[in-house]
Amino acid sequence: MATQNCFLQIFTLICVFYFLPLVHSIEFNFPAVFNFGDSNSDTGNLVSSGIETINPPYGQFYFQKPSGRYCDGRLAIDFLMDAMDLPFLNAYLESVGLPNFRKGCNFAAAGSKILPATAGSVSPFSLGIQVNQFFRFKARVLELLAKGKKLDKYLPAEDYFEKGLYMFDIGQNDLAGAFYSQTFDQIVASIPNILVEFEAGIKRLYDQGARNFWIHNTGPLGCLTQNVAKFGTDPSKLDEFGCVSGHNQAAKLFNLQLHALCKKLQGQYVDSNVTYVDIYTIKSNLISNYSRYGFEQPIMACCGYGGPPLNYDSRIGCGQTKVLNGTTVSVKACNDGTEYVNWDGIHYTEAANQYISSQILTGKYSDPPFSDKMPFLLNLKF
Ligand SMILES: *[C@@H]1O[C@H](CO)[C@@H](O)[C@H](O)[C@H]1NC(C)=O
Ligand SMILES: *[C@@H]1O[C@H](CO)[C@@H](O)[C@H](O)[C@H]1NC(C)=O
Ligand SMILES: *[C@@H]1O[C@H](CO)[C@@H](O)[C@H](O)[C@H]1NC(C)=O
Repeated sequence: MATQNCFLQIFTLICVFYFLPLVHSIEFNFPAVFNFGDSNSDTGNLVSSGIETINPPYGQFYFQKPSGRYCDGRLAIDFLMDAMDLPFLNAYLESVGLPNFRKGCNFAAAGSKILPATAGSVSPFSLGIQVNQFFRFKARVLELLAKGKKLDKYLPAEDYFEKGLYMFDIGQNDLAGAFYSQTFDQIVASIPNILVEFEAGIKRLYDQGARNFWIHNTGPLGCLTQNVAKFGTDPSKLDEFGCVSGHNQAAKLFNLQLHALCKKLQGQYVDSNVTYVDIYTIKSNLISNYSRYGFEQPIMACCGYGGPPLNYDSRIGCGQTKVLNGTTVSVKACNDGTEYVNWDGIHYTEAANQYISSQILTGKYSDPPFSDKMPFLLNLKF
């Protein structure tokens, strides 16, 4: 890790001190963030709902305890909130500890899909339900604000709903989940229906006054340890980086159509900003060029069971203890999570999330790219 990681950290610091203040004043001037998605950006909803628990070593790297995030530390959304000078987002379902929603609210829940949940879905909180939760949230906030100023510190102001940023990172479970029961062709054929549902969610938010949309595409699902373990046993199914080609192909086809939808929405909603962010390219660059970014393991899970090459066993997850084959097994983390891209077989490590968010913040992977929206930044002489 040493020198490259050090370089990356110095580079990140330079960005934070010299670049972000300029970005702040122009692009990232949002009073609040409302986020919708799956485990990529869940800051505690699925755990608060009581559907799943997560144990140490989750959270060990940053929070020193499980924080409701499916990670050893912070998620990309945490780094993005930091960059916007906003606090970490509270989960909508967190009911204890006086959650503060002044600067926004997170509706994302691990395991969620765009499509409605079916029997066997991990999360009942599909995009449509998350949007319903937002409607309920907004209605309650406006009702409480109307009663007086007492709750101002905890709730968004009325105009934050229009001025706020609406972020989305969802679709991964629609695709990856489908591979357990459908063929590649069936999955590809279902993408337009998935996106009809996505569009319906965006439209409902727009009709409620949302105007700034920030939409992450889906990552290279075929590179997730869990999918390599299940679908990559036949080497002919793997690409040169050890990722399952079919999963990545489906993700790319989904992203092409999602991108087209974003363009269409931008055309329709002339009073809005719709930003599409190419997370796929950032993550696949990280996985294929991992050593350049200071990582040693692009696919093997840090916290898993079974040892190399994948350190993943579908029977037992990170932080769990079970009797397997007559022996009690407890799944612990690797020694140095900063060497690993993958945390638990399904989710990225904090180190990877930090890299991913630093790439998002370059603005290069967005459509429209930030620099297009920063005319006076371009005029500055460095
Ligand atoms: C969209 O972005 C432009 C440029 O950053 C900004 O001037 C405009 O106010 C934004 N529109 C909305 C609806 O926020
Ligand atoms: C890896 O890095 C090379 C050189 O910068 C680049 O051309 C290539 O696109 C990267 N790989 C991926 C998958 O992005
Ligand atoms: C269980 O133990 C047997 C005997 O040691 C071994 O052959 C088998 O591979 C083990 N199964 C698993 C799933 O670890």
